[in-house]
Amino acid sequence: MHFQWYPGHMTKAKRQMQEDMKLIDLVIELVDARIPYSSRNPDIDELGKHKARLILMNKADLADEGQTQAWMAHFQEKGYFAVRLDARSRAGMKAVTDVVMEACNEKMERDRKRGIKNRPVRAMVVGIPNVGKSTFINTYAGKACTKTGNKPGVTKGKQWIRLNKNVELLDTPGILWPKFEDQAVGQNLALIGSIKDEILNKDELSLQLIKRLAEAYPGMLERRYGVEEGQEAPELLMQVAKNRNCVKKGNEPDYSKAASLVIDEFRSGQLGKITLEFPA
Ligand code: G4P
Repeated sequence: MHFQWYPGHMTKAKRQMQEDMKLIDLVIELVDARIPYSSRNPDIDELGKHKARLILMNKADLADEGQTQAWMAHFQEKGYFAVRLDARSRAGMKAVTDVVMEACNEKMERDRKRGIKNRPVRAMVVGIPNVGKSTFINTYAGKACTKTGNKPGVTKGKQWIRLNKNVELLDTPGILWPKFEDQAVGQNLALIGSIKDEILNKDELSLQLIKRLAEAYPGMLERRYGVEEGQEAPELLMQVAKNRNCVKKGNEPDYSKAASLVIDEFRSGQLGKITLEFPA
């Protein structure tokens, strides 16, 4: 799912989110663990102030574990709860529930003091497109989710998924927009595949990726492609083309094919577990 955002989209999404915020106690924000900064929209801090905040570092299966831990510590220092996650697997969901309960303890305690009993904590999932919101809701809510599906006759309005006696989840996620004005952010979003490939210069993108990997993960390109990392990125890519048999008519090395190969292998995790940005 690739996105294109226009000012109209953003205004509408923001208004919707402001409305939904009134209904909830906890914001569950998904970020992409490979680019935890670039996959956030800072407006969420304003929109979600006064709410308990949980950041899920999703697609952690593709990210560098050490960096994921560093990012979690970074977010925790800033007052968020944080959990690493592969939203496709049910295995990590117990940890999410534990933290959801912890994050909401304060509110439940307040309710108890006021004599309000058994009011479940209400939560909402938010994040930029493609970060894994629907996958997370489906895996986390399991079968309960299908009950509230888009059936004709189901009353329009807010649908809540009851996760257990203590937690309810809004069934539609809130969509945030990325900070595309920032070029570095744009490059990171392009690398993880969140911007239409057709509008990208993949040759150039792969050269940027090669430079960044050689710096942050020395030895990785050498191990995968049998190339020398000391050379300039264009020469290195040419060597990838030769070693991986990317050729065009006349047996010429196919530079663009090699560029796509490197990007695809990064996105699918075949190159290794990689994080592209690091906590300040
Ligand atoms: P969204 O609602 O936030 O837009 O994202 P969505 O759940 O549609 O997920 C976007 C893509 O990311 C999907 O792949 C999904 O399978 C994948 N994904 C979600 N969570 C994880 C995760 O923790 N790890 C990994 N590796 N992938 C994850 P897709 O290619 O668009 O579809 P498909 O391959 O599932 O058919």
